[in-house]
Amino acid sequence: MAGFKNLWIIANWKSNKTVQEALEWVAKVGPQIPQVLKVVVCPTFSALSEIKKAAAPFPLLVGAQDLSPFGVGAYTGEEPATLLSQFVDLALIGHSERRQNFNESDEMIAQKVRQALDHQIIPLVCVQGKDTPVPEGVNLIAYEPIFAIGTGNPDTPENANEVALNFKDLEVLYGGSVTPENVGNFIAQENISGVLVGNASLDAEEFLKIIKICEEI
Ligand code: PGA
Repeated sequence: MAGFKNLWIIANWKSNKTVQEALEWVAKVGPQIPQVLKVVVCPTFSALSEIKKAAAPFPLLVGAQDLSPFGVGAYTGEEPATLLSQFVDLALIGHSERRQNFNESDEMIAQKVRQALDHQIIPLVCVQGKDTPVPEGVNLIAYEPIFAIGTGNPDTPENANEVALNFKDLEVLYGGSVTPENVGNFIAQENISGVLVGNASLDAEEFLKIIKICEEI
């Protein structure tokens, strides 16, 4: 039956796209999203407000790429969950680019998860392998091996499935060099509940190809 897995398809734009480019993407992708998928776009903070309005007519959820480990107050430069919850349904937390470039620790990631949960934002925690700790209260994770991110060198679908098996009772997505060519093999795995897509999500046509394949599974 088409769509029986109710897959998550998540676009992580990282530090890309002007508001204008972001709106053009939503105008192309939005009308073609089938109800059987859970599609989420994670733009930069500067595009969130406009994207939230533009996505409203479509079955397109909006996510943040990060959030503050603190609440509102004197935390210059941070985006607290309280304020983000005006715009987002979900937040990526603990992406390896944040762990590497911004020294995020497991403790800080756990704090961010608590902030998300306290403000009705679904935390999507990125894990780099089977030993990455998953904070309490998290139901959704993405297995993203560092060697596969942005390299064109994805993990094998079979290994991703094996890693996912270690996280019992959680929904596990795969991320790392997902393309229209390989997505079908990942979502065919029993323990994989969707994909987190970086590069291939930037181009609306490429992302629509991924959506189409996931719809037909
Ligand atoms: P990629 O990025 O698809 O470009 O490898 C995935 C991610 O970092 O979430």
